[in-house]
Amino acid sequence: METIVSGMRPTGKLHLGHYHGALVNWLRLQEQFQCYFFVADWHALTTDYAAPQGIRESTIEMVTDWLAVGLDPKKSVIFRQSRVKEHAELHLLYSMITPVSWLERNPTYKEQMKEIVGKDLSTYGFLGYPVLQAGDITIYKAKKVPVGVDQAPHVELTREIVRRFNQLYRPIFPEPDVLLTEAQKVPGLDGRKMSKSYGNAVFLSDSPKEIDAKISRMMTDPARVKRTDPGEPEKCPAFQLHKIYSTPEEIHAVTQGCRTAGIGCLECKKIIIKHVIEDLAPIRERRAQFENHPENVEEILENGTEAAQKVAGATLAEVREAIGL
Ligand code: TRP
Ligand code: SF4
Repeated sequence: METIVSGMRPTGKLHLGHYHGALVNWLRLQEQFQCYFFVADWHALTTDYAAPQGIRESTIEMVTDWLAVGLDPKKSVIFRQSRVKEHAELHLLYSMITPVSWLERNPTYKEQMKEIVGKDLSTYGFLGYPVLQAGDITIYKAKKVPVGVDQAPHVELTREIVRRFNQLYRPIFPEPDVLLTEAQKVPGLDGRKMSKSYGNAVFLSDSPKEIDAKISRMMTDPARVKRTDPGEPEKCPAFQLHKIYSTPEEIHAVTQGCRTAGIGCLECKKIIIKHVIEDLAPIRERRAQFENHPENVEEILENGTEAAQKVAGATLAEVREAIGL
């Protein structure tokens, strides 16, 4: 069975954007591949080293959501990066063979240096972010890495590092491919991309009441000022949720209704609300089992760590041997 590796930085509770963007994909993959899914808590430190207080709690919140949506520790290895020290060892060894120029020209690095203000990112660790990621991926000899486009440069760098390693020492590692997540674009409540930091998210852990309240005030086509003004669904962020959740018949009906002012926005959004609440019901139910027992989540992470260590340890033995250490 082919191996797949993916990680997420611990961001706390997850929202519909994470769900349709990554998790739905992970759920499918865990049925077909040997998957390693981990919390990239060291990667979180590359930007949050000055304020690491939230990382542990965010880890538990996030993994609770993973389990709630149905990631299954019987099928996938679920763990914390910082507990599998072999990742750090491979990162160190890769750092010996990675030219600084490769890292400095990484588009994600350049972009984040510009965009992230208020944090001093002129650190060794932040520059080396993709080197650590290369370690994460290859330590399990992953063939595929399911990530969004923003992460593609990191996987490309991984391939370059692997090629260099294999050439310098011995061909141990496969070159991993990006498995581009055909991510469904989930609009936030204000029409921008759904993001925790924008305050426009519907969380997987929101109650039916919160979901109702949030989507009821979601942005619609600004042209529909009055109930009698016709609208255009393609200009309406809420309609994007219809595309994800509603049946073709419902979509047809609201499209007609919107363009003829035959349906009010609230009535239209009630359909979405019903679907989102129904869709999240089994997730809410599963979450209930973990929410009040963070120790069970910890235990799953511990067991995952053990399983990951076995494979990672075997790879490192090969690596040390190949280098001649
Ligand atoms: N950098 C990734 C992100 O921000 C997280 C990550 C760390 C990752 N290591 C990984 C993803 C290995 C895939 C494989 O989303
Ligand atoms: Fe959007 Fe529906 Fe209102 Fe049209 S009727 S603007 S699709 S919420």
